[in-house]
Amino acid sequence: MDEYVVVAEEISKSYQMGFGTVTALKEVSLKIKRGELLAIMGPSGSGKSTLMHLLGCLDKASSGHYYLQGEDISLLDDNALSLLRATYIGFVFQSFHLIPQLTVLENVEIPFLYRPNPSSHHAAIVTALERVGLGHRLHHLPRELSGGEMQRVAIARALAINPLLILADEPTGNLDYETGRSILALFEELHQQGVTIILVTHDPNVGKHCQRIINMRDGKIV
Ligand SMILES: Nc1ncnc2c1ncn2[C@@H]1O[C@H](COP(=O)(O)OP(=O)(O)OP(=O)(O)O)[C@@H](O)[C@H]1O
Ligand SMILES: [Mg+2]
Repeated sequence: MDEYVVVAEEISKSYQMGFGTVTALKEVSLKIKRGELLAIMGPSGSGKSTLMHLLGCLDKASSGHYYLQGEDISLLDDNALSLLRATYIGFVFQSFHLIPQLTVLENVEIPFLYRPNPSSHHAAIVTALERVGLGHRLHHLPRELSGGEMQRVAIARALAINPLLILADEPTGNLDYETGRSILALFEELHQQGVTIILVTHDPNVGKHCQRIINMRDGKIV
């Protein structure tokens, strides 16, 4: 079991909406090995983000089992889950989610603030920014950066904690074609360095970068 970072067994997610229920995810099973670069594709509303939320422990499945590194997530309370996220999971979003008042360096420091005993992480932060090619932008504010650079900061923030898993939900969705390409190339480079990455994308070219693509329809893997 240990070679698998992620083991999802028939996980479903339903949302209560007034009198009805929306089932966003229907008995999805998925195993992801350490070091994989996996793309999730599928039409709008097919459940890609819902799956990413569950894999990232931002939310729990309504049924089924999810094991992260062999640990059954359904047994953890909210505090344990947020500690687990801060320790193991790096998130990258379409709209970057940087804090505008904080410098590049301070933005990358954020995940460390959730740790129970914050010690000095300065070296890890600078190294992560160097890995994404932003070693020369440490004291800039987000508004002084291009979109591609902002996404690189977000990727450095995900990387700095040395995560078990990076989850990126449409990381190139707000970028022009060329910049999007360079971000995908960066993920590929990180993958070659051994980082485990799950990527939601609409870019049909992503197949060239990813070892495995799963397609979703109506809450299921097809
Ligand atoms: N918090 C929520 N409450 C109710 N329904 C939700 C919620 N989140 C998602 N859904 C529903 O679940 C389904 C899957 O949504 P999801 O966001 O996972 O799709 P997606 O594949 O990420 O789409 P997109 O490509 O547009 O981002 C949709 O029908 C959506 O309306
Ligand atoms: Mg989505």
